[in-house]
Amino acid sequence: MRKPVIAIDGFSSTGKSSISKVIAQKLGLIHLDTGALYRGITLFAIQNCMDQGTLNMPLLFRSLAGIDLGFRLENEELVLYLNGVNVSEDIRQPEISDQVSLIAKQPEVREFLLDTQRNMAAAGGVIMDGRDIGTVVLPDADYKFFLTASVDERTERRYLELKHLGIATDKLSVKENLINRDKTDSERKVAPLKKADDAVVIDNTELNKNETIDLILSFIKEF
Ligand code: DC
Repeated sequence: MRKPVIAIDGFSSTGKSSISKVIAQKLGLIHLDTGALYRGITLFAIQNCMDQGTLNMPLLFRSLAGIDLGFRLENEELVLYLNGVNVSEDIRQPEISDQVSLIAKQPEVREFLLDTQRNMAAAGGVIMDGRDIGTVVLPDADYKFFLTASVDERTERRYLELKHLGIATDKLSVKENLINRDKTDSERKVAPLKKADDAVVIDNTELNKNETIDLILSFIKEF
């Protein structure tokens, strides 16, 4: 029997990826974190397309076709490789978080990643998280969820996550980054961050990770 395709969209730091990872394990699905792909392109741009301190977008667009970006399975974890290098840690740096929305709003970048994402989901059996999965990437997904939570709660979670990763920052910077990213992601012209009409909204301000997971699982029928 075909395994389901699940789309998880929502605001930054609502726990989309960590929640999707657990649901994937429980249901035997593959979890694809599409934000990591945008972060990978951003890392590439910072490494290769800087021009006197600013991003040279035309150069990035010309370079896109030559970028080898994808996940590899290592020790049961999907690890992001950029041109043969494991960049899973590098893409979490604040410098990338600061620039990624600017890169993600470029139609050329979105177009480039669209096929990559659709191909990854073609065989079914995936849970994909991002911003436009239910609306654009996989509009026919079997299940769609849209996660939200208060800015303060999301700031706290993101701050603790960065601290855990050993990345030095302060709460105000984290909060500003979240607010700016949400704004840029929601207001961009192509594939903005938006709830799909048929998505279930989950506000997890008052829910912990396991409670959110259980709530999502309660919507999913056996397959
Ligand atoms: O999920 P994340 O915070 O790692 O995503 C990083 C950025 O990538 C986010 O600010 C918006 C962008 N993004 C997007 O535009 N579309 C997606 N499907 C996933 C992420």
